[in-house]
Amino acid sequence: MQDQYVPNFTWYHPTRIIYGVGKLQELPTEVGKLVEAGSSVFLVTGRSSLQARGILQKVLDGLHEFDVTVYNDVRPFPSPENVDSAAEACKAAGAKIVIAIGGGSALDLAKAVAILAVHEGTALEYATHQRDFQRKGLPFIASPTTSGSSSEVTSGSALWDLEGKKHYGLGGPTMFPDVAIVDPELTMSMSTSLAANTGMDAFTSAIESYWNLESQPISDALDLDVIRTFATNLERSAIQGDMESRAACALAASMSGAAYSNSRPNACHAIGGPLTLYWGVEHGQAVGITLGGFLRHSAPAIAHKTDALWNALGVSDVEGAVQRITQIMSRCGLETTLSGLGLTEPDIDTIVDNTISGRLDPLPTPMDPGQLREMLTSMF
Ligand SMILES: [Fe+2]
Repeated sequence: MQDQYVPNFTWYHPTRIIYGVGKLQELPTEVGKLVEAGSSVFLVTGRSSLQARGILQKVLDGLHEFDVTVYNDVRPFPSPENVDSAAEACKAAGAKIVIAIGGGSALDLAKAVAILAVHEGTALEYATHQRDFQRKGLPFIASPTTSGSSSEVTSGSALWDLEGKKHYGLGGPTMFPDVAIVDPELTMSMSTSLAANTGMDAFTSAIESYWNLESQPISDALDLDVIRTFATNLERSAIQGDMESRAACALAASMSGAAYSNSRPNACHAIGGPLTLYWGVEHGQAVGITLGGFLRHSAPAIAHKTDALWNALGVSDVEGAVQRITQIMSRCGLETTLSGLGLTEPDIDTIVDNTISGRLDPLPTPMDPGQLREMLTSMF
């Protein structure tokens, strides 16, 4: 048996995914399955364009059997305090269910609200493990208006203290949304920059998930499909923004989240943290910039499955892959060098010192701070 390979893993993903153009119409039916008619609903939405496009009004009309409180004080990169205020409003409304329709920030905030609404204490106390969640939160339905945070299908919320330069993760198996309604129509108003940034987040996460030591046959299958989809559609989604490419990216983003709930994003996200906290770099840009570098570092250790990866990217080797990633990013208007982000070489110390701890661990080949410094130096 020793020379035979038999995989060994656990897969868990409990969110029901409803996907398709126009599927947001099914929201009232889904709410009705989770709570009684007349129940108080806490609806989190961060996008003014939803209002401008008349979508919010349609949602409210559809939910006429329920008592809806709309909460729209969602900041980009939501802070623990932003979450606490929203959770207080949710408790005050006596909500029985939380719904989020918006980008990653709205979904992450609402997901945290759903669980905090049934617990005492602050978001920060849970994020810093002074307290632990004891039970599942309020039922939670998430519907994304961007294609990349994957928050509609994941069990975590990213929270940020931009002034204190801290990044927090709030999460656990009880935090998966009950239902994700992925309606590509909602993503049609994304700007080129938003489509590029959010898509790059999910594209990067899928490749990180693929090289992760925790990867397994189910995550690999999903990740390869996600990688192929973004390699084919991300530029088109960002630049042309037609329905077919936007729909492909919407599906790929959710598939990426299901995969990475079991094989986590890692090294690129470890560096993305300080790039956002210290230089205000958008998340997708911040994680995507090191994708080629970490792929070059990781590829030899996953040689048994790189053929499938090159095939998904439409290239024949690792250098072709790095070039293709750079090409996609450039064509989408994203920066591909640290100097392009306004950094200078002395800034490398800040990045290395603030790399999110533990998130380099899943790399198939360990990278020490010296190697990290070398990789970053080559990126100017
Ligand atoms: Fe991300």
